[in-house]
Amino acid sequence: MSSADAPRVRIPPPSGVDALEAIWTTRAMRRLDPLRPVPDEDLRLILEAASMAPSGGNSQPVRWLVVRDAELRRRVGEAYRGVARRTFLTNYEEAARKDESVARLLASALHLADHMGEAPLLLIPCAPAGRIRIEGAVFPAIQNLMIAARARGLGSTLTSVHRDDEQPVKDILGIPADIQTFAIIPVGYPRGRWGAPSRLPVTETTYLDRWGEPLPRP
Ligand SMILES: Cc1cc2nc3c(=O)[nH]c(=O)nc-3n(C[C@H](O)[C@H](O)[C@H](O)COP(=O)(O)O)c2cc1C
Repeated sequence: MSSADAPRVRIPPPSGVDALEAIWTTRAMRRLDPLRPVPDEDLRLILEAASMAPSGGNSQPVRWLVVRDAELRRRVGEAYRGVARRTFLTNYEEAARKDESVARLLASALHLADHMGEAPLLLIPCAPAGRIRIEGAVFPAIQNLMIAARARGLGSTLTSVHRDDEQPVKDILGIPADIQTFAIIPVGYPRGRWGAPSRLPVTETTYLDRWGEPLPRP
């Protein structure tokens, strides 16, 4: 069946918080409640939101692996923990000694590294390996999924450090050699609070008409 013949997803979707509110308050939610499962209906909804994302030529190459089995989550979590601790400590430990915001980020990332396998769900977006520009199809889908999760009160974090050595994760989950994993996204009800992420003002990130020309202030 070609993607054009594929059955359509549900329209309209169930309601949640306003789209802009969800965008403004979606941030890395690394502390999740391990004891509160994600309702199947919400899992289905966020996967459908991901499927709404654009892809080149509407090729829709992303395949999602939902890891719910507790033992598999534990094993994927262990694999993530090894790479994450090694990489984050190597890259950030020294900077964290001098900069409080780096120290907070490192502590949060290490917390997730130690608890990844306890998240109620691990979602793994996959796509054919070695195809150029395929990321362009994967990351819009991830972003849709995370925003939809937020709209349903679910926290998530886009993580990808396991890609430094993704083979253990592929082995645990039986992912074929010609398929690549792009992220491991823990999803669950947050223990932390929602809040606006800290970002650069658009006046610092945007030019008008010519490189370097500032946007007029509103
Ligand atoms: C491509 C990408 C890869 C990321 N990989 C990881 C990761 O492996 N582990 C992790 O804890 N966070 C990871 N993050 C989350 C970022 O650290 C986070 O989005 C950033 O610090 C901003 O956090 P905030 O949204 O809470 O402000 C990743 C984010 C992106 C966009």
